[in-house]
Amino acid sequence: MAQRYGFYALGLCFGAAAFLAVLAFLCLFRVIAIQPAFAMFFAGVLMTIVGLQVQAGIKAASDLAIHRQSQAELLQAQLEEQKNAVDAMADGLEIAIFICDSRAIIQYANRRAIELFRFDQPVGRNVLAVTLSYDLEQLVLTGGKTRSPQNAEISFTYPDERVGHAKVWCSEESGERVFLSVYEITDLRRLERIRQDFVANVSHELRTPMTIIRSMAETIVDDETDLSERSIKYLNKITSEVDRLSMISQDLLILSAAESNPVRKQRCDIAEVFRTAVHNLEKKATDKGLTMTFVGPEQCMVEANTSQMTQVALNLVENAIKYTTSGTVSVEVTPSETNINVAVTDTGIGIPSDQIKRVFERFYRVDRARSRATGGTGLGLSIVKHIVEAHGGTVAVDSALNHGSTFTVELPIGD
Ligand SMILES: Nc1ncnc2c1ncn2[C@@H]1O[C@H](COP(=O)(O)OP(=O)(O)O)[C@@H](O)[C@H]1O
Ligand SMILES: [Mg+2]
Repeated sequence: MAQRYGFYALGLCFGAAAFLAVLAFLCLFRVIAIQPAFAMFFAGVLMTIVGLQVQAGIKAASDLAIHRQSQAELLQAQLEEQKNAVDAMADGLEIAIFICDSRAIIQYANRRAIELFRFDQPVGRNVLAVTLSYDLEQLVLTGGKTRSPQNAEISFTYPDERVGHAKVWCSEESGERVFLSVYEITDLRRLERIRQDFVANVSHELRTPMTIIRSMAETIVDDETDLSERSIKYLNKITSEVDRLSMISQDLLILSAAESNPVRKQRCDIAEVFRTAVHNLEKKATDKGLTMTFVGPEQCMVEANTSQMTQVALNLVENAIKYTTSGTVSVEVTPSETNINVAVTDTGIGIPSDQIKRVFERFYRVDRARSRATGGTGLGLSIVKHIVEAHGGTVAVDSALNHGSTFTVELPIGD
């Protein structure tokens, strides 16, 4: 509104000046004759109007400037308030947050970030300089370069030994900025390790008493001549249950070893591993009247741990035989450019669709009695899943009740 008045005043000034100029011109060249007193009066009136308009224009302009300034101050105060609220919120989080540029130079760090890396003034410094983690710096650089989200579990050595889950992301609106969050999981990993060690130790400790119980029961059956049939039956039951316990403890040891140790990879011929498993278990299958087939290339090399892959192959093929009463068990190894796909298919009892997701859980068995009767521990598939995922692969199952199942393992070929 004030702006509009300013324009009107300016217009009037120009109009008046133009009118006076024309009048002066006409008088000068005597185009019109004007009485000097009338001319003076006329000019005076005009000058007063012009003066008043100019004054009004200046006032309107100054009102506008004041209005604009107070608006800017209000906006500034609002922005400040908003920034303080965001800062207060970020400072209260249990997650360390950094905002960096695409060269991993820190522009902002919340309180947790400063506490975690005990670095007073991280702003303006490189992620590597503040965290002493080359992996974290690389994660930020990769995220900034590709503009795609990055995730990694990172072990920090400075200022203490810690483990964190780091996440990097960018947003369209934030220009070159790269956001980084680090969530500390040191305690979680420590508890996991305690649990794994506990399971491994218990399994290990149980082996000796189990061996002694077994050998004693066997000795009694072999040496004592006057044992009743009932006693022999019970002693044999003790032996078979101890065998079951040994199998469980052995599977627990395999599982905890797979969990706690990083995978030691070497060149591994997956085709050979599965061919051998098929060969070794062929007798079991033919005894049940099943046909076993293997289809695959002569050689199929991947970066993997051969003994762990043997566990995977034995568990899958053994299950296929165990849960099939008639028909075929076939293994097919198919290499592609980046992956190797292994499918173990049977024409067995299948898995009910509502339980299919649970078969990879520890000790989960669809039919507990059947699994027990066939010497199962309920740990085979969790061992398979754990080993395959530790190798960066996936395992999936497709099954139709009473028609059969296909377990598919997909492994990356590696370097
Ligand atoms: N090929 C298969 N066909 C049908 N059911 C299967 C097959 N493989 C596994 N299962 C089901 O998944 C359960 C878990 O398998 P696993 O972990 O190997 O334990 P188990 O020692 O009982 O074989 C089995 O008890 C069985 O119910
Ligand atoms: Mg099994």
